[in-house]
Amino acid sequence: MPDVKNTYIAGTGASLPEHVITNKYLESLVDTSDEWIITRTGIRERRKLEDGSTGVDLSENASREALKNAGISAEEIDLIIVATVTPDHPTPSSACILQSRLGALKAAAFDISAGCTGFIYATAVAHQFMSTGLYQNVLVVGVEILTRYTNWEDRSTCVLFGDGAGAVVLRQTDDAERGIIDFQLKSDGRGADLLIIPAGGNAMPASEESLKNNLHTIKMNGNEIFKFVVKAIEEVIVCMLESNNYKPEDVDFLFLHQANLRIVEHVRKRMKLPQEKVPANIDRFGNTSSATIPIMLHEEVTAGRLTRGNLIGMGAFGAGITWGGIIMKW
Ligand code: ACO
Repeated sequence: MPDVKNTYIAGTGASLPEHVITNKYLESLVDTSDEWIITRTGIRERRKLEDGSTGVDLSENASREALKNAGISAEEIDLIIVATVTPDHPTPSSACILQSRLGALKAAAFDISAGCTGFIYATAVAHQFMSTGLYQNVLVVGVEILTRYTNWEDRSTCVLFGDGAGAVVLRQTDDAERGIIDFQLKSDGRGADLLIIPAGGNAMPASEESLKNNLHTIKMNGNEIFKFVVKAIEEVIVCMLESNNYKPEDVDFLFLHQANLRIVEHVRKRMKLPQEKVPANIDRFGNTSSATIPIMLHEEVTAGRLTRGNLIGMGAFGAGITWGGIIMKW
């Protein structure tokens, strides 16, 4: 049995499409306003992937950057996990296509579907393989192309989502003071209908009828999800901190899923954290689902704010319903 090791993030990367969709543009599509969208969600603009490009294209860019920043080659990767609910194809996995693009030929590869919590789930799964000593280097990608599953006539959802990818390279360390301290993964499938793309799976294969009725797009009961997650996400983070003898004020950065700035602000205030400890990018990118947290990590590392030794919390929630968090020393 190999030695027990800890898992840390050695490199980050991100890739966003260039095309910007502004709130003003959405005003021309549906009965909405810049003012409503900013006040109710915090979103000013989001990105939309160009026709002809795919999630794996963005994933490849983000992964190459993460590998470069981690200082390792694709051949050294033991495992690739792609967290996504919008894979390039129902099968094969986006992870396998990415593996081939990168030339990471010794890696095992698979996708994880856990809604916007996908990156947290994927990182926790990677950590399991690594803490036993089985794998040394794991590439975790969060990527989502939700604009291709958006009903542009539904004002309650079309203003919310944006496309993007974020990647991290996880490596093993003997340093007990560095890396993942704890994680929690939660789900409650009784909320499965609260956020659903009804058609396209085997329950409702694509048909003329399903296309005509827009059933390949996101249907969401935003209000119900909002009420549930605002409490659940705080509980997960605070519980992990307490059980590892930390207090909220010990946290240097809290990275929360960016579904609504009001949720982020609510949790931040309840935990009594100053704004600079709780980054937000929802104003620029909207809800990028499982890509949100790795994109935020990359932004903070690139800006030189997130540095070695920082205590960070990450928390996400999404379709399923799923939610969860990780605390780690950077
Ligand atoms: N512009 C103008 N009015 C709008 C818009 C819009 N874009 N969208 C909804 N409204 C209207 C509604 O029709 C409603 O009007 P009514 O009172 O006349 O019926 C009114 O605004 C209020 O609607 P609510 O749905 O109650 O608005 P709310 O304040 O809850 O905001 C939102 C909606 C932004 C979706 C919010 O509920 C939310 O952020 N929920 C959480 C979503 C979430 O976390 N999802 C999980 C992650 S995503 C994933 O996993 C892929």
